[in-house]
Amino acid sequence: MQITIIGSGYVGLVTGTCLAELGNNVICLDIDEKKIEKLRKGEIPIYEPGLEELVIRNVKEQRLHFTTNTKEAIEKSEIIFSAVGTPPNKNHEADLKYVKQVAKEFGTHLNSYKIFVNKSTVPVGTSHLMKEIINKYNTSNQQFDVIDNPEFLREGSAIKDFMNPDRIVVGVESIKAEKIMKKLYSPLVRAGNPIIFTDIKSAEIIKYASNSFLATKISFINEIANFCEKAGADILEVAKGIGLDNRIGSKFLHAGIGYGGSCFPKDVQAFICTARKHKCKFEILQAVEKTNQNQKLIIVDKLKKKIPNLKNKKIAVWGLSFKPKTDDMREAASLVIIPKLLKEGALIKAFDPVAINNAKKIFVKEKNLQFADKPYEVLKEADALLILTEWDEFRSADLKRINNLMQGNLVIDGRNIYDPQEMIKNGFDYEGIGRSNNLNSHKCASNI
Ligand SMILES: NC(=O)c1ccc[n+]([C@@H]2O[C@H](COP(=O)([O-])OP(=O)(O)OC[C@H]3O[C@@H](n4cnc5c(N)ncnc54)[C@H](O)[C@@H]3O)[C@@H](O)[C@H]2O)c1
Repeated sequence: MQITIIGSGYVGLVTGTCLAELGNNVICLDIDEKKIEKLRKGEIPIYEPGLEELVIRNVKEQRLHFTTNTKEAIEKSEIIFSAVGTPPNKNHEADLKYVKQVAKEFGTHLNSYKIFVNKSTVPVGTSHLMKEIINKYNTSNQQFDVIDNPEFLREGSAIKDFMNPDRIVVGVESIKAEKIMKKLYSPLVRAGNPIIFTDIKSAEIIKYASNSFLATKISFINEIANFCEKAGADILEVAKGIGLDNRIGSKFLHAGIGYGGSCFPKDVQAFICTARKHKCKFEILQAVEKTNQNQKLIIVDKLKKKIPNLKNKKIAVWGLSFKPKTDDMREAASLVIIPKLLKEGALIKAFDPVAINNAKKIFVKEKNLQFADKPYEVLKEADALLILTEWDEFRSADLKRINNLMQGNLVIDGRNIYDPQEMIKNGFDYEGIGRSNNLNSHKCASNI
């Protein structure tokens, strides 16, 4: 099938590349000329495991093309995916300016029947609004259909998630468009991945409700972790005991310093705003969001309890991206924690396996924040080490080497990647999130 993807960011590039891998002829369009230039040279503008190999292969097979020419990209294809951003505006609603622009361009360049597939996360009612915009610019009166096909991929495992989704959701109101979408996704459905067809509004809500539910699980376990600390229990044991219940499940029960990224924070807030417009309060989600904001700062409170005056104290930071296996810094806990520490006069040295370039752009003016290419370099004479992202390479770090390099012995582990007992045995003053440093907790915690 001939497909165009409008917006070649995290979602657009992965969607376009995977659809090309499935045998389609795909044009990836973006207004960012530098991004398209890079892609044409085989350089991938984002860090996403496995993506580079797939892009190179499909470009070579001439199934994947990159362009900035909107007119040509729309005119050439029958299925046009829109995967542009829906960032938060100043009121925390989803800003629809990119989405509306794409609808306008689609309407303007309609030259035959086409399907407009919205992949961006949009508030309920947006697809119908897009239909109105397209109609306004569709002066040649071509036929078209609008579909909402939300994306559930996770950065870091995006290719696998696209190729093996838990479900494909297609919100559609036309039999013709439904048939075309069935054909498009048939290779994934034949491989056993479920597809559900719904009305458009339900599809739009499914995306926000899914992300909000996952965010709720995270804030819930974080509140339980904070309680465990006060009560002298261990969150890893508690989470395991809860998660073994099939009705609950063990995923998203990892306590830490809160969720971040380009989706959960903005989607929870946008969902609250949309609900408010429909006179619903969503009190649970308001609490989820508040808990998450507080949780990011817990690591600062813990540090200040041990080192009350941070002026000129050397703080090592491991991990800057919002989660491992991505260079995405959007809403990362590090963006809240590092400025707080700098304000208190701390001298920070930070390491991240892939996000340093993005972090440097964000913290360009901060003289008291330095970056190093190697994890152990930031530890020299550090008074404390903070773990902000659970990269695998930190999990099996050389504890003796860490201790020898540091001046102090304080490790605050915002992602619970270390065993408290092992850390204590290695001479650290160790703090996790909701962890008990009590010797008896070791047996069960290490089973997780
Ligand atoms: N990132 C994720 O993990 C993820 C997962 C699921 C859903 N989503 C949703 O998917 C959407 C896209 O997210 P993303 O993270 O890929 O965004 P992104 O910012 O990485 O990419 C958006 C791209 O669209 C381009 N663009 C904007 N206007 C354009 C136009 N008129 N024509 C062509 N290109 C244009 C931008 O230059 C950018 O490259 C959002 O609604 C997001 O909420 C994201």
